[in-house]
Amino acid sequence: MPGWNAENIPDQSGRTAVVTGANSGIGYVAARELARRGADVVLACRSAARGRAAVVRLRAEVPGAEVEFVPLDLADLDSVREFAKACGQRRPSLDLLVNNAGVMALPFGRTADGFETQFGVNHLGHFALTGLLLPQLLAADPGARIVTVSSGFHALGDIDLDDLNSEHRYRRWIAYGRSKTANLLFTHELARRLETAGSGIVAAAAHPGYASTNLHVGASRQEGHRPMSRLMGVGAAVLAQSAASGALPTLYAATAPGVQPDAFYGPRLGWRGAPVRSWRAKWTLDDTSGERLWAASEKFTSVPYGSLAR
Ligand SMILES: NC(=O)c1ccc[n+]([C@@H]2O[C@H](COP(=O)([O-])OP(=O)(O)OC[C@H]3O[C@@H](n4cnc5c(N)ncnc54)[C@H](OP(=O)(O)O)[C@@H]3O)[C@@H](O)[C@H]2O)c1
Repeated sequence: MPGWNAENIPDQSGRTAVVTGANSGIGYVAARELARRGADVVLACRSAARGRAAVVRLRAEVPGAEVEFVPLDLADLDSVREFAKACGQRRPSLDLLVNNAGVMALPFGRTADGFETQFGVNHLGHFALTGLLLPQLLAADPGARIVTVSSGFHALGDIDLDDLNSEHRYRRWIAYGRSKTANLLFTHELARRLETAGSGIVAAAAHPGYASTNLHVGASRQEGHRPMSRLMGVGAAVLAQSAASGALPTLYAATAPGVQPDAFYGPRLGWRGAPVRSWRAKWTLDDTSGERLWAASEKFTSVPYGSLAR
């Protein structure tokens, strides 16, 4: 693993992948590097204009890349169902799902289905997507992987299982941290269920450290706070690593041989560096919290998870 970089990605020919939020930042780089190694990659993006532009850019950077844009809005469960249906019809077997898309520290808002936005997009949308794509992932088993992108900011807060949608109190950074804890608890519980079901699918997680992407300016742009947006942009440009470096832990979890179920990868120094196994807060390994979050997520999304249901 020391010094692992994109050139170490094994040949991906014959493998199919879905990357959410693939038009920008970590997701774009992950999709591009998977395609460069021969994977057939679906770019799952909420904006048709940005999704199509990403396909054009990617094909210019990787001539002959097998990539396709399919619309997916994780803030709308109808869109998640449509995406899974379209994807299943075109690709009956799926080798890799990268649950990457995310929003950070937005002002309070709700998804189309009424969930708090950060919990709804970062966790519930991906929970529903994974369950709906499970038949295709099982068709590629053994060897299929599900990689969910969390954050070092998961350390900001253990999940509040009695107030998952911030009905009682909303603090935007704590809500972001909790949504990223949810990504790790989901991976933990998913890995346990896959193992119990005797599946060879590996569920793992990653975080990019601090990488220069659109994530840091999203909230201030949404609020029309231009000085803050500029400050966040400058901060990221000066201190952060590139999106290409930030994508390496995700690409490692997605492709490196020997990745273990429930492993969590991040940059060596925490915020930058080559991918290594990452520290994680102990609450992200709590079986009871994982089970309770799973049960609540099934109830919220009405996605039952077939053979992984208990
Ligand atoms: N960059 C960092 O320093 C950092 C640190 C820790 C964790 N992360 C995590 O890394 C992941 C990728 O973020 P990034 O840094 O690459 O940021 P980014 O450049 O803002 O990319 C985020 C992607 O998610 C998409 N997205 C947002 N809401 C969506 C929705 N409702 N449905 C579908 N897609 C949606 C965005 O689409 P639009 O372009 O349409 O907005 C964009 O493609 C996130 O999970 C984030 O929490 C990043």
